[in-house]
Amino acid sequence: MEKDISFILNHLGEDRENYFNAVSPPILQSSNFVFRDVETMRAAMPNEFNRPFYTRGANPTVTILRKKLAALEGSEEALVFGSGVAAISAAVLSCVKAGDHIICVQHPYSWTTTLLEDLLARFNVTHTFVDGTKLENFANAITPATKVIYLESPNTMTFELQDLEAVSALAKKHNITTIIDNSYSSPLHQNPISLGVDIVVHSASKYLNGHSDIVAGVLCSTTERVKKIYSSEFLTLGGIISPHDAWLMMRGLRTLQVRMQRTSESAEKIIAFLENHPLVEKVLYPFSKTNPQLALAKKQMKRCGGLFSILLKADKIEQAEKFTNSLKRFLIACSWGGHESLVYPICALYGSGSNNKPHLPWNLVRIYIGLEEPDILIEDLNNALASM
Ligand SMILES: Cc1ncc(COP(=O)(O)O)c(C=O)c1O
Repeated sequence: MEKDISFILNHLGEDRENYFNAVSPPILQSSNFVFRDVETMRAAMPNEFNRPFYTRGANPTVTILRKKLAALEGSEEALVFGSGVAAISAAVLSCVKAGDHIICVQHPYSWTTTLLEDLLARFNVTHTFVDGTKLENFANAITPATKVIYLESPNTMTFELQDLEAVSALAKKHNITTIIDNSYSSPLHQNPISLGVDIVVHSASKYLNGHSDIVAGVLCSTTERVKKIYSSEFLTLGGIISPHDAWLMMRGLRTLQVRMQRTSESAEKIIAFLENHPLVEKVLYPFSKTNPQLALAKKQMKRCGGLFSILLKADKIEQAEKFTNSLKRFLIACSWGGHESLVYPICALYGSGSNNKPHLPWNLVRIYIGLEEPDILIEDLNNALASM
């Protein structure tokens, strides 16, 4: 049966009779919670996971959000973090100890790379990056020390996919935990747990919140695994979300379906324009007709959302700069998933002295389509391409 998304977004987890029948839940902006006597305090202690004791553990506003996010992703439980990176770090750390090995899809989100290359390397956890478009690359990289296969499907710059069902089955055979960053798809467009993946993480700063006003992360898995992460990485590293930000994310979630529909429809229309433009060499997008992995994309994703990249037909980096600077309706910024259209020009990484050594060409521009009218965005893109 299809999930009842509108029930999840509008009602699940909300216990209105407990707060004056308010439609919108209260923001319980309290660090701690009181007990009437020693006995009730003692009884609450072993169940901090569910019962308000101290807000680093469980806060009632955050708990409502946890229930909604778990249901959206089709998992038993969810934890909410103060950033996507906090969720990623907790997920990975929960699976490894010194001497272990991680297989990671090549060119994941930049701070995931840093987690593996810098932080975990200090604790003698090694890694191998693989081209995740071929199953045999994962199989060939497995060693007796491999404990994690880390996935990001699709990649959020170049949109390569991994076959989630096949990689999960391979991992299970070798007792390896699979983790996926599902930020690109949101729980509306791809549910990796139903394909066998063990842990799903999100940067909720993107679609889940959807308004470019908070940074947050989500981790979804079985109750057993989430409880283990909760009592170790979650409580000890303490990367929690504030009750106020949890409330903002819940408000953002109310419109997740309509926002996803709008951004997806607009992006499809704009991509159709760009694919026929003589100054666009290629559009990189999972559902693009030219994507060699189109069949896989259609098999494991419902839709694509509003994020894609273009390769400009340009000879000089200045043309990519001119294109970007000429846009009037797109903001030049990182991130995506909010109400506003954005461009992230790779040419900005060239000569910037940034730690991110560009592995991508300077003529690649990542585009995010917000909630504006698509025809206005098309006109803006058309004018900017003409200015090159
Ligand atoms: C694909 C992807 N994963 C994870 C993250 C990290 O999330 P956050 O910025 O919420 O820590 C980002 C942020 O840009 C991202 O694009």
